Amino acid sequence: MDQRICRIFSFVSAIALAATVGISSEALASSPPGMALLKQRCASCHDLTGPAPTTLHALWARKGPDLFYAGNKFQRKWLIEWLQHPIRIRPAGEFYADHITPGSKRDRIDPSTLKDHMALDAADAQLAADALMTLHSHDDLIAKESVPNGTISPTMGALVFDKFLGCMACHRVKPDFGGLSGPELYTAGKRLRARFMASYIRSPQAWDPKIWMPNKHLSNARIVQLVHYLQALSEGESNE
Ligand code: HEC
Ligand code: HEC
Repeated sequence: MDQRICRIFSFVSAIALAATVGISSEALASSPPGMALLKQRCASCHDLTGPAPTTLHALWARKGPDLFYAGNKFQRKWLIEWLQHPIRIRPAGEFYADHITPGSKRDRIDPSTLKDHMALDAADAQLAADALMTLHSHDDLIAKESVPNGTISPTMGALVFDKFLGCMACHRVKPDFGGLSGPELYTAGKRLRARFMASYIRSPQAWDPKIWMPNKHLSNARIVQLVHYLQALSEGESNE
């Protein structure tokens, strides 16, 4: 190769190398300390980057709930506690059909097929929670919601949730009471952020395109009522 061309070539590749190193060290510096822990110990089951599955096959194969919008979904305090003492949220696991045996009257869970979630020590739980809280996909959906503080009578709430809208077919409202194919909702008020609940109820598919929760096209007033009901169920307080 001609010497001049050779020099130009090495100059260009040095710039390219510097650019790559520059970007990665910058990204490394800005990522929270717990991010490495999430990547090492959690990413085999949880999607930390998105997007959500776009086919039923991929949805059913998912090993754990998506966490790439964790910062918009969870309450930090709940995360820190749960990561140390994980209690089952989805009574029949991540994909219910893998853990249910159809009964003559109603479906039963086969507990022998369910595994306990790993528990972290206090320091790691805090690191992981802080890293999770930086994952902010779908800020646009959250920005559209506002949930004023308020209450709903338990009787009215139960009537709307259980009877009118049939939410209980898939969600438990007490331990051992309610459906099996969705997450339990009696801790939702402590677990989830108010505006996330509102947004998810408004359009589950905006968060998870192939999820089987139906979009009931509810009014704002109805959605706010439901969030108040879920907060009351767990005596959760709005943190937003
Ligand atoms: C072997 C697979 C696996 C690994 C590894 C794993 N998880 Fe999970 N995770 C799951 C499953 C399955 C669930 C659903 C549990 C339930 O609903 O009770 C879950 C639930 C969660 C939830 C609640 C999510 C929600 O939407 O309700 C959080 C938060 C979480 N995991 C964080 C972590 C963190 C942090 C790590 C790493 C330190 C981790 N997980 C490692 C499988 C895993
Ligand atoms: C056909 C079953 C089904 C029905 C009916 C249903 N849901 Fe869901 N719901 C789901 C599933 C599945 C998810 C998400 C599962 C996941 O993230 O693993 C979900 C998620 C949610 C969430 C977010 C909870 C979380 O932990 O991520 C809320 C809040 C919720 N549903 C409320 C409702 C309300 C209110 C109704 C009635 C208007 C309702 N659901 C009706 C299946 C259902």
